[in-house]
Amino acid sequence: MALATLRQVLDEAAKGVYGVGAFNVNNMEQVQAIMEAASETKSPIILQASRGARKYAGDQYLFDLMTSAARQNPDIPVVIHQDHGSKEACLSAIELGFTSVMMDGSLMEDNKTPNSFEANVEVTKAVVEIAHARGVSVEGELGVIGGIEDGHGMGGIGGMLTDPDQAVEFVERTGVDALAVAIGTSHGAYKFSSKPDRAVLVMDRIIEIHKRLPNTHLVMHGSSSMPQELRETINQFGGNLKPSWGVPVEEIQLGIQHGVRKINVDTDIRLAMTAAVRKLLAETPEAFDPRDYLKEARSAAKEMIAKRMQDFGQAGHAGDYTPISLSEMQGRY
Ligand code: G3H
Ligand code: 13P
Ligand code: ZN
Repeated sequence: MALATLRQVLDEAAKGVYGVGAFNVNNMEQVQAIMEAASETKSPIILQASRGARKYAGDQYLFDLMTSAARQNPDIPVVIHQDHGSKEACLSAIELGFTSVMMDGSLMEDNKTPNSFEANVEVTKAVVEIAHARGVSVEGELGVIGGIEDGHGMGGIGGMLTDPDQAVEFVERTGVDALAVAIGTSHGAYKFSSKPDRAVLVMDRIIEIHKRLPNTHLVMHGSSSMPQELRETINQFGGNLKPSWGVPVEEIQLGIQHGVRKINVDTDIRLAMTAAVRKLLAETPEAFDPRDYLKEARSAAKEMIAKRMQDFGQAGHAGDYTPISLSEMQGRY
């Protein structure tokens, strides 16, 4: 088994100037799709579970699925990461054996109200102390990325962009391994009402933050590109998704040239799987075995993820280094 920490994988990505996709998982087919894509493209990977995913699948069940995938693919460095954790979720993830956590202190407990800078620093620093003592990496977030609570961020800058001065202070005071920045993206299927320009997808903000924090690994959330053909397929076979645009891959690639090392993708996997299931069931009305349509969904997810691994540049880098254990990592903080 080649479990790796986020710190190590992103340090390697910085050396090679590439990005690593962090793909969300909720079930066996998604874990398998990511592992198959990683194995085919020889990519290090980040498997990430949200609080919702852990609730859906069950904590131990989901953790076992991820570690089982890592055990079966010993040549692939695998990070097991908590996506958008509260302090409580981060601590329970560490107990379960996750190698990395995101302490999302950008919003208050209600998941709606922006947190104060001081409160964000305080909770993130507390998680960093506990996590680093166990060798576990921590991603923090500053600014507010739109759409997390309502899945609706249409129109671009719905959240609060990350302030570069605050970013410097936040990283210094918390000791995070990676920083999620808000640059106008949002979570879910409704991001931008037309192809985003630099006024709504503020790539300059990344460039500015990277200049100030050249040694900090930056994270782009809400980074699904939302291929139009997936929405069209979903709608062709009975769905009803409104038009929306995602983050163009070229913009992510520009970010990678300026310090972006982790790219979060969930919605594209959801769209790819839903399009495949709708198509299969519409074209094969006699089908009733879940394996028939889940196989299609898994394969569509795998194709999409393998493409992103090529786009982000992580393809071919799985064998560049030997993952170090959590206990070895402890000594490095
Ligand atoms: O952060 C957003 C991810 O897409 C996870 O979404 O909370 O619905 O699992 P979720
Ligand atoms: P998308 O909704 O754009 O896939 O973003 C996922 C994400 O940021 C998970 O943390
Ligand atoms: Zn996110």
